[in-house]
Amino acid sequence: MKTQGWWTACKASMSMAAWVCTAALVMSASAMAEGGPAWAYPVADKEQPPAPDGNTKARVPNSALTYQLKEIDNLFEPPIWFPEHNVGMPRVVQYGAQPGVRACAACHLTSGQGHPESGHISGLSVNYFKRQIQDFRSGDRTDKVWMTAMARAMTDKDIEESAQWFAKIKPIPWVKVVEADTIPKSYFNKSRKRLAVPGGGTEPLGERIAEFPQEPERVLLRDPYAGFVAYVPKGSLAKGKELVTQGAGKTVMCIACHGADLKGVGDVPRIAGVSPLYTVRQMYAFKTGSRKGTYAAQMQPVTANLQDADITAIAAYLASLAP
Ligand code: HEC
Ligand code: HEC
Repeated sequence: MKTQGWWTACKASMSMAAWVCTAALVMSASAMAEGGPAWAYPVADKEQPPAPDGNTKARVPNSALTYQLKEIDNLFEPPIWFPEHNVGMPRVVQYGAQPGVRACAACHLTSGQGHPESGHISGLSVNYFKRQIQDFRSGDRTDKVWMTAMARAMTDKDIEESAQWFAKIKPIPWVKVVEADTIPKSYFNKSRKRLAVPGGGTEPLGERIAEFPQEPERVLLRDPYAGFVAYVPKGSLAKGKELVTQGAGKTVMCIACHGADLKGVGDVPRIAGVSPLYTVRQMYAFKTGSRKGTYAAQMQPVTANLQDADITAIAAYLASLAP
């Protein structure tokens, strides 16, 4: 696999190293933050390492197939690495619908597990799933980058078929949570993935959560089974557990509605084992009222009195649970 040609170049060439290893460090402040901390709303950095040759062929572990890098980044026909796991996949999931709807599998992967900038959609109940698309359509929920526009372009058939399809896919363990003081220096690539700068050293984590691919190469190839590691501030897990399981005088116990194992009940969604960045965005969306569908009202009292550090801790703890 040659997808990380620039990493090698970065290490090998002094002039390249200056460009890749330092310039890419400039972190962009997010213009997209909707009440939440900028780190939860990834934005591509302006300066990017040189793109690898799009004709380069690549493979992922355990798949018999080969794709070119440019095919892997085609949002209307992303790779289906394991067709045998996806028999009967609806057209909209595999190809989207020109011109407005990209293939669901491109961002949420064929496994429905998604990446931190998008999120998981596997194992959600059909009603919950359809409600979200309707809320994106009506403006009761917003995703300025993608889902608002795509939900408006989807037909009722697209919505029905994708909801039915992903509801049947079983979620898998996806995020490894690590309490840390420091993290690798990193940048956001064009598809808003946080990647370590090779040889870039470390920096303090501070009060953020930072999610990195466990295996960057596989994640960049849209391998549906390649998950993430989330670095969270020290103490978050214990604090998050207290808030989630007891409310700690600040919130309502999540198990009251999301189920004893937080894997969802009826049309209340699973919140265990998901990307903490995704959870943080939703908690702020409920708190600020930008996510305001009929059912979102139930999340208002839950989020009303939570401070930034509480939300970070809750998201960290939930991510650490089995999905
Ligand atoms: C180009 C990227 C992209 C594609 C393609 C995409 N999505 Fe999304 N999707 C997102 C992002 C980003 C979010 C999360 C927004 C947020 O943080 O609230 C999202 C969120 C969702 C959610 C909400 C999940 C939840 O737990 O509430 C659903 C449902 C969803 N997408 C369905 C779809 C379907 C169906 C398709 C295919 C027709 C699709 N998406 C294609 C980027 C994408
Ligand atoms: C009174 C019931 C209730 C309680 C208590 C509750 N929730 Fe929720 N939660 C809901 C409902 C209903 C939804 C779905 C909202 C919608 O459809 O937009 C939801 C959605 C969410 C979502 C968005 C999931 C997604 O995939 O987008 C998150 C995150 C969440 N809740 C976290 C929590 C946490 C953390 C707690 C405890 C601190 C909690 N909830 C307590 C009812 C509740």
